[in-house]
Amino acid sequence: MEDEQIREFHEKLSERIALLEDKNDKLVEASRRIEGEKRYVESELLRLQKEVKRLRAELERLKTPPLIIGNIRDILADGRVVVKSSTGPDFIVNTAEYIAKENIQTGARVALNKQTLAVMGVLPPSLDPIVIGAEIIEKPDMAYEDVGGLDKEIIEIREAVEDPLLRPELYKKVGIDPPKGVLLIGPPGTGKTLLAKAVAHQTNATFIRLVGSELVQKYIGEGARLVRELFQMAREKAPSIVFIDELDSIGAKRLDMATSGDREVQRTLMQFLAELDGFNPIGNVRIIGATNRPDILDEALMRPGRFDRIIAIPVPNFEARCEIFKIHTHRMNLAEGIDFEAMAKEADGATGADIKAMVTEAGMFAIRDNRDYVTMADFEKAVDKVFGESLTRQKEPGVMYA
Ligand SMILES: Nc1ncnc2c1ncn2[C@@H]1O[C@H](COP(=O)(O)OP(=O)(O)OP(=O)(O)O)[C@@H](O)[C@H]1O
Ligand SMILES: [Mg+2]
Repeated sequence: MEDEQIREFHEKLSERIALLEDKNDKLVEASRRIEGEKRYVESELLRLQKEVKRLRAELERLKTPPLIIGNIRDILADGRVVVKSSTGPDFIVNTAEYIAKENIQTGARVALNKQTLAVMGVLPPSLDPIVIGAEIIEKPDMAYEDVGGLDKEIIEIREAVEDPLLRPELYKKVGIDPPKGVLLIGPPGTGKTLLAKAVAHQTNATFIRLVGSELVQKYIGEGARLVRELFQMAREKAPSIVFIDELDSIGAKRLDMATSGDREVQRTLMQFLAELDGFNPIGNVRIIGATNRPDILDEALMRPGRFDRIIAIPVPNFEARCEIFKIHTHRMNLAEGIDFEAMAKEADGATGADIKAMVTEAGMFAIRDNRDYVTMADFEKAVDKVFGESLTRQKEPGVMYA
């Protein structure tokens, strides 16, 4: 009997054990799961804390007062410096400790605390956005073949620009300095800008194009600084060709009677002359200027040692016009019987730009007629149309060409 009881008890016990073991397994699993969740939540917390920190820092950054840009004028024996900010007088200020001493040099561009004007950091020297924005075409895709009727002028500009860049030994052997600058003069639309681009193409040089009027700035001294930075960039990117288009906007004659604006332009011009004098003619920076108002240029620009090679770009003659017509039509779908010579004869007095406009107009007439080829009649109409417009333009007085 006792045996029976014991066995029953035993059975119940093992049943219970099995139950408990099962329960235990489930609990262990649950605990593992919760453990995992906890770890996840903890890492999430860490992530969010980091995010909060980042946002706080960002907020802090946005709240910091602006820094003033200034220049170091002088460094005093006690370690303080004299700074000049864009406005007002010079100040003697302290510098932040974390700035390396060797970076603190006279002339350095620095950031100043707004309240104390203490130097908070040294900035890299700036190239002005205008200089950066100056058209740097690594390699313009215009070639000499795209310039019509200027064979003599091409030879001249090659001698003056290409040879010093590509074959400096020629000049060294003979013992002369090549001309420093080349000035292209001629009526509007005769291909001055085009020619300069073709030269840059041929020499594989960096082509830096700046229009003179961009150098005329609002604040005193800005224009001169731009000129300096322009030449600095040209030297860094050498071999390079600096092409200053519409040179007359800074190169006009200096007059005794002048407004303060004129004086600023003159300052820019003087900086330009100084840069011209400063660089080595055999160096690999070449300058080309272009203007359609040579009559108003300051004589100082043209004296030997500056723009000493003047190339006059003429209005194209008959043969040149033929050639320019061919250049601008060679990608066009032309009908039979196009007579370039008749067109060139018709377009007497037209410049390269006029001819380009005529060719475009002719194409427009064809499109208007729903044709995909251009006929002689289109060209005749186009010549008349453009010519009518440009004749009125050419009547404007006062323009002289050498
Ligand atoms: N000799 C030429 N051969 C081929 N195309 C020409 C020639 N001259 C002018 N052109 C055409 O006319 C356009 C304008 O010429 P370009 O810009 O060189 O004139 P420019 O002499 O610099 O005039 P501006 O004095 O007004 O600056 C050129 O893009 C080109 O398509
Ligand atoms: Mg031009």
